[in-house]
This record gives sequence, structure tokens and C-alpha cells, in this order.
Amino acid sequence: MELGGGRGRGRALQAGLREAVRVGRLGAGTQLPSSRELAADLGVSRGMVTDAYAQLTAEGYLTSRQGAGTWVADVRRGPAPRPGGDFAADDRGGPDDLRPGLPDLALFPRAAWSAAHRRVMTALPHRAFGYPDPRGLPELRAALAALLGRRRGVAAEPDQVMVTSGVAQAHTLLGLVLHARGQRTTAVEDPGSPEHTALLAATGLTAVPIPVDAEGLSVAALAAAGVRSAVVTPCHQFPSGVAYSAARRAALAGWARDCGGTVVEDDYDGDFRYDRQPVGALQGLAPEHVVYTGSASKSLAPGLRLGWLVGPRDVVAEAAERKRTMDLGHSVTEQAVLADFLASGAYDRQLRRCQRLYRARRDALVGALARYAPGGEVSGIAAGLHAIVTLPERYGPEPAFLAAAARAGVAVRPLSDYRTSPRPPDGGDDGRVRLVVGYAHLTPEAIARAVRLLVR
Ligand SMILES: Cc1ncc(COP(=O)(O)O)c(C=O)c1O
Repeated sequence: MELGGGRGRGRALQAGLREAVRVGRLGAGTQLPSSRELAADLGVSRGMVTDAYAQLTAEGYLTSRQGAGTWVADVRRGPAPRPGGDFAADDRGGPDDLRPGLPDLALFPRAAWSAAHRRVMTALPHRAFGYPDPRGLPELRAALAALLGRRRGVAAEPDQVMVTSGVAQAHTLLGLVLHARGQRTTAVEDPGSPEHTALLAATGLTAVPIPVDAEGLSVAALAAAGVRSAVVTPCHQFPSGVAYSAARRAALAGWARDCGGTVVEDDYDGDFRYDRQPVGALQGLAPEHVVYTGSASKSLAPGLRLGWLVGPRDVVAEAAERKRTMDLGHSVTEQAVLADFLASGAYDRQLRRCQRLYRARRDALVGALARYAPGGEVSGIAAGLHAIVTLPERYGPEPAFLAAAARAGVAVRPLSDYRTSPRPPDGGDDGRVRLVVGYAHLTPEAIARAVRLLVR
């Protein structure tokens, strides 16, 4: 265990132990070394280890018996984070599943999609079924440039748009491009999406966590980190729900301009904003330095694997070359159907329908919390498909609460799962339970039921 130096060592020791228990590196029932042994192993004072054991025992991670020793407690809880993070195919979407990441799959517009598919099958010439342009179908790239300009304030000509297999592949391609340009590290948000870190790692880039505060990513910390690229979610930070302030957006764009850096913008749920007009994409502020990424995963369905990136032409050319060597391009029929869907207005209709339903579901979440857990707070609700729920103090400590939630059959993810730093940069160190709650996939009735079960 690396503890570093100075006054933070005790905290780092506690965080390291907590994490080891949480991810199962220290399994339930494991006896820990005596405080004297561990202190000698780590080269720290015995008091520091005793304090750490006492703190984690109070929090429910450890159990101890006077004079007999200290053991890892049975921190039984909802399904452990899977290697695939929030986005892997799994058992999600059950009636009492409040974890984030999914839209309502029952809202997929099957009839309109089938009609578009029939039109496309009639219209496509034989030659269209050959190997596609790895940058994407020209009709779709043009339709996306228009859509993203109109809805998200993205500044793009069609030749700056590239079709990808979701945001996930866009990030993989961009990671490979940055790596080929000599970069070995990239900044990510803390708290942030574990998926970003995993995708970057697969391309050989090490993620450097940078704290997020109430205004967004700390650009001062970013500048001090010595990286040349950053992956960010400025319109609705994942998972905190913060929308970057205008000053922070300008500072981030300024950082990229000053150091010739690259910002990868993940606009994973930018289509959904409830209380006012959507915040435009950061890319519009600095198109030369920001690569915008988005997908149909939230608006239509993640199973389509349809996404896009928009960036400077040299980046698009390099990313397309990577895609060519990866899969020779995206399915022509799916691209053509999406292009038809966009051109016919069906996509806008789908967005309007989802927006209306998801707003009602968000309101149902806020209402259920006010009713069943008075004193709780909800934040990050202006946009997207999830919110941060902070429960009143009486629900802590977190491990005991999560164990009780699992016993009640409610699947939840705590905000702490998305943090890399031992000390929360977002003020979440007051002992209150903070959950990242996805609400879009549940009906208002199901939300009320799950919340009632959860807080009982
Ligand atoms: C923050 C974030 N980034 C990326 C993704 C993955 O998106 P896609 O399905 O477009 O690959 C998700 C999916 O939920 C997400 O929440």
C-alpha cells in the first residue's frame, strides 16, 4: 500500500483499507494483522493503524473483538461493480434497480425504426452494401452535422463528423490517436466514469484523476498535472450532475488553447435538459481543441451501438484510419436507418417524447424522497437520466446502509464508487450517504416503490 508522506497518511491508510474491503481484495472474514505488525510493515506509527481500524470498524467495514483481533466484516450489498463498469451487458433494469446508465428500453420506437428500415431497404442501391467509408455514411455524417449544430451548438462540417460504435468506441479511437501522438497520460474527472479510465487504459493511456467541484473540473489542478489531454462531461458531469460554469468552460478551453491540448467532450446525455434550454456543447467554444463525442444510446437504445465524434479534420482522419484497421467501418444499414430517422423528424419526436416522460420520472424521484426520506437532498436534476441523492444523516454509515438496501432487494450505487481520491473533492465527507440514482428506466410508480423500500 502506497501511503505517501505527510499528514494525509492516516487518511490514505483508511481509504486504502476501505477500498480493499469494498472491491473484495480483503474478503469477508479475513483476519487483519495486529496493529503492531501492520505498523511495522508500513513504517507508520502504531497509533495510526489503531485509528484506522477503529474508524473502519465504526463505519462497518471491519469487526473487532477486544484482545482477539480485527476481521473484515461481511459488507454484503448490491451487485459489486462489474469489470465492465456501468455499461456492461448485465442484469440491470429490474423493478427495484436504481443504478444509473440506462434509458427506458421499452420506449425504443420500434414501429418508426422498422418503417425507416423498410424505406432504406427499398432505396439503397446494390453498391451501398459494399465496404463502407470508415468515417461513416455521407448522408448520416451530413445529418449529424446538422442535428448537432442545431441541438447541441456543435460547430461542424460533415467532413468533421465520424460515425462510431457508441461513445465508447469514439473514446477508444481517440485514445489510440493521442497515444500515437506520444501521449501516455490523460486527465479524467474525479468523481468520474470508471468507463473512461478503462477505455483509456485499453489504449495505453494512464488516467490522471482531477477533482471536480461545484463549477466543474478544476482547471488549476489540470494545468498542474502536466497532461496534454482531458476527458470531460461538461454539460452534465458524470456522476455528480454538475453543469460546468461558464467561467470553467472558458478556462478549460483556454487551457487547451494555451498548451495545444485536446479536450475530449463526452456528451453522453446532453439531449435531456428539463428546466431550461440545453447547455450547448463545449466544442462550440474551441472547435480546434475539443473533440465532441455522443451517441444514440440514451435517446434510442445502447444496443444499437450508434455514436459519433466531431473534431478537427486531422483527428478525424487519424481516428478513421484506426477504425478501418479495427472493423472496416460501421454497419451500412444501421447507419442508413439512423440517417432516415433523422431526416424524417422521427428522431426529434423520440427526443420530445422521452424528455416529457423522463422529466415526470425525475419529478417522481424528487417527490418520493420528500415523502419517504424527509430531509434528503437531490442534486444534478436539471439534466440527464440520473441524480445525486444525499440522504439525511440518520441513514449512515454507508456500508451498513448499502447492506440494508441489498437485503431489501434494491440495487444502488453510492457516489463513493466513482471516486478515486481518498478524500472526496466534492464535499462528500460529512458521513452522509450519497447515491447516484438512475430514474429514466423506471415508471413513476416503480420509482416511488423502490425509494420507499430503500429508505424503510
Ligand atoms: C458517462 C458515460 N460515458 C459513456 C457512456 C457509454 O456510451 P455509449 O453507449 O455511447 O458507448 C455512458 C453510458 O451510459 C456514460 O454514462
